[in-house]
Amino acid sequence: VDLSGFRQQFPALERYVWLDTPTVPPAARPVLSALRRVERAWEAGDFNWRDWDDAGDIARSLFADLIGADPSDVALASSLSEAAATVAHSLPPGRIVVGEREFRSNLYPWLALESRGFEVTLVPSSEGIVTTDALIDALDERTVLIAASEVQSSTGYRVRLTDLAARAREVGARVFIDLAQSLGALRLDVADANPDFVAALGYKWLLCPRGTAWLYVRRDRREEIEPLAPNWKTPADPHATYYGAPLELAPGASRFDASLAWFPWIGSVAALRLLHTLDREAIEHRCLELARAFREGAQDAGFHVVPQDAPSQIVGVDVPDADALRARLREHRVTASVRGGFLRLGFHGFNTEDDVEVALKALGTA
Ligand SMILES: Cc1ncc(COP(=O)(O)O)c(C=O)c1O
Repeated sequence: VDLSGFRQQFPALERYVWLDTPTVPPAARPVLSALRRVERAWEAGDFNWRDWDDAGDIARSLFADLIGADPSDVALASSLSEAAATVAHSLPPGRIVVGEREFRSNLYPWLALESRGFEVTLVPSSEGIVTTDALIDALDERTVLIAASEVQSSTGYRVRLTDLAARAREVGARVFIDLAQSLGALRLDVADANPDFVAALGYKWLLCPRGTAWLYVRRDRREEIEPLAPNWKTPADPHATYYGAPLELAPGASRFDASLAWFPWIGSVAALRLLHTLDREAIEHRCLELARAFREGAQDAGFHVVPQDAPSQIVGVDVPDADALRARLREHRVTASVRGGFLRLGFHGFNTEDDVEVALKALGTA
């Protein structure tokens, strides 16, 4: 599958070898065009705000399609932490299990429950990684929820979601999956692992502007969750009236929707439509193959890379001075980041074998 047309959608790729998508990728042309169009319409006064607000529903459907869900099971949020907090504030009392190295937006919403009497168990890491087996071993009958990222932010370790969810089901624990570092590069169908909750954000692998996120709530969990910040969008027909009691809930997961910031959602519709033009299997294959080629090349050059097993499209290079290495890459116009002491590189469908070669050359030898 030829992904060169996809690559050409990113002006910044003419200037940089972009391996910093785990932090944030550069903008794609259709997203920029959508944002520029809306700015012009805003300036000229030629707009209907309800059209802007409708972008949320369009993005809901496009997102639902990506994860094989029904749009009525997907809520709109502004950040991953907000999606997690929506679940957190409705949990029944009990024990929560989460990896000690989770990105804080998928850790703090659970830790914040300690002051309300919840027991939060932090699963220990080794080499920055909290393994699937360690997460599974931490589950017991008192566990009300386990929260995990499919791909861990600082190392790229990929959790076996199906195994995790299967064990959680046995003990009766809910499963909350953070797809911030996977969806858009790696595929997920909610029918496979059948998690209770899935949260994703737009501004990394899904190529959206920052400010959009989604929360999938499995239908049998809908009634136990309450809106975090109920607002005029909470009822079935938000436009019927904007005033007065009673509190009405839409039948579907839109009852959990945030009150939207319009422009990021308009940009997100353009980004998701761009992703929908692509062969998702080809994207995933490209991402994983490029990461594998980089990992092997770096190892051949004497570097220690993580993860050693359960790899993804993100690679961590374990070096004493990751910041110096990042600066060296930058001199070669290669972008990367440093997280948890690792030099972190990520490969999207717009990256190429040439990018891997340039990055390896810039890396040098250990
Ligand atoms: C695993 C993971 N979750 C969440 C986030 C960001 O969350 P938020 O949308 O709350 O900023 C990141 C950002 O790097 C991340 O890596």
